[in-house]
This record gives sequence, C-alpha cells and structure tokens, in this order.
Amino acid sequence: MNVALVTGAAGGLGAAVAARLAEDHAVLLTDVNAERIAGAAAKLAAGGAKVAHAVCDVSRRDSVQAAFAVAEEQLGEVTALANVAGVGKFHPFTELTEEMWDRTYAVNTRGTFLTCQELLRRRAGRPGAIVNIASIGARLGLEMLADYGSSKAAVIELTHTVARIGAPSGVRANAVMPGLIWTDMWRTTAEWLLANGLAPAGATPEQVFAGMADQMIPMKRPQTPADIAETVAFLLSEKAANITGQTIAVDGGTVMT
Ligand SMILES: NC(=O)c1ccc[n+]([C@@H]2O[C@H](COP(=O)([O-])OP(=O)(O)OC[C@H]3O[C@@H](n4cnc5c(N)ncnc54)[C@H](O)[C@@H]3O)[C@@H](O)[C@H]2O)c1
Repeated sequence: MNVALVTGAAGGLGAAVAARLAEDHAVLLTDVNAERIAGAAAKLAAGGAKVAHAVCDVSRRDSVQAAFAVAEEQLGEVTALANVAGVGKFHPFTELTEEMWDRTYAVNTRGTFLTCQELLRRRAGRPGAIVNIASIGARLGLEMLADYGSSKAAVIELTHTVARIGAPSGVRANAVMPGLIWTDMWRTTAEWLLANGLAPAGATPEQVFAGMADQMIPMKRPQTPADIAETVAFLLSEKAANITGQTIAVDGGTVMT
C-alpha cells in the first residue's frame, strides 16, 4: 500500500484530503495542532483506515524530518505528499508588518519547500507524487492578501521546480488552487470583515462567506473540502501518471487558467 503524508490534516481541507487519501493509501496525518490531529486520526482509524499521526510544524526542518520518520516507522516509506498546511488572514497592505509577512511565508512557502525537499531526498531517484495546495489568491492581486497571495504564487513556482527536478525519476509535483471553502480560515476572515465594517452589519459570518462566493465565483457555488480532496487524490494516483508541473484550479471558474 502506498503511504501518503498530509500536512495541515487537522484543518477543514486537510482532514478531508486525509480521509479521501485513506481510501487508497496508508496515511500519516500531521498538523501543528497536537490535540486536533490526534482526534482527526482517531476518527479515520475508527472507520477502519490505516492511519497514524504526528505533530509537525512545517516551518521547521527538524519537525518535518521527524514526521517523515514517524511515517516510515509506523506505515512505510512515504511515496505521496499533500501539502495542505497554510495560514492566511486579511490585512490592509499599509498595515502589514514584517512579522505577519514572515509568518505567512514561514508556513505557506518555507513549509512547502521543506516537505518537498524531504520527499525528494528520501525518494532518491525513485517515483513519488506531490500536491501542493496553492490558492486563487495567487492570481487575483487581492488588496487584503499581499502576503498570502504572493506566498501561494511562490508555492506554484516552487512546484514547477520540484516537478522539473523530480521528472527524470518519476516524482511528479502539481499544485491545486482551491477557490472559496467554508473552513476555520474563512470563518476568521468573515468575522474580521464584519468587525472592520467591510461586510453588511448584522450578517452572520456564514452569510458574509455566501455573499463573497456569489460575487466572486462564476458558477455561484462555493467549493467543498471534498471537491478539492478528489482532485488531490487524482493527482497523487497513477491515473495522473503523465501530469506534472501543472496548477489545477478547483474554483467554479474564478481563475480561468
Ligand atoms: N478555505 C479556503 O477557502 C481556501 C482557499 C484556497 C486555499 N486554501 C488553502 O487550503 C489550505 C487549508 O486551509 P483550510 O481552509 O483548511 O484552513 P484551516 O485553518 O481549517 O486549516 C489549516 C491547517 O493548517 C495548520 N497549520 C497552521 N500552521 C501550521 C504549521 N506551521 N505547521 C503545520 N500545520 C499548520 C492549522 O493548524 C490548520 O489545521 C491552506 O493552505 C489554505 O491556504 C484555503
């Protein structure tokens, strides 16, 4: 059985990716949140999936290496990697601090670099597959997301480099750009918009999110974690054996690539 390592697997999207991958892989669920990652893994194990978990802060090399070691000990050598961990908050550009900028890049961009590098080193000339979660924010020049959008654009270009390095040995790397998914990340964003008078007063965070989806998405429907998980599973599977270095938007037509 192939072994997949999922980062950010305690989050809204990461948990769905881990659940979908557990249908055809053994899965190591990892996240910086110790309590939630144990719970997410226990839930999948209770359903009969072959899973293990590890606390992993993707911004730290020692933590990433330790997670790969846990996977190898408990499940076998990692052949597939889904980089889902990420942080993103709205900030007016003129109020963005160096600390905010660096934190976003540490998780989204350095984290993706460290995990991809670890997989390439460990595969050492043997095949494997990687999916990095980017965002439509990488392509829209959104004024409140200078750090987040550019960190995700960097993830896309990093994916191209990893794809080129891995190609001769059959390590494929692709990026997925989700549109708008209702998770903790969007709840925090909707709450921030309301608190700052940037959303209709009296609306609930859910209504703010629905309004944004209606405004931004040509198909007028938000994306679900399962929509994204299915694309990740496809790209990590043998069905995608000839696809590498690509960025697939799952966003109801928001960014047409
Ligand atoms: N929700 C959306 O609309 C949306 C859209 C486009 C892209 N994305 C991307 O999808 C991914 C998942 O986001 P989500 O919506 O599930 O948000 P979420 O906040 O529910 O999940 C993010 C997860 O990442 C984990 N995390 C944060 N810092 C970490 C670190 N240093 N090391 C390891 N894990 C860490 C968090 O603990 C959390 O479990 C992110 O990369 C996000 O940028 C989300």
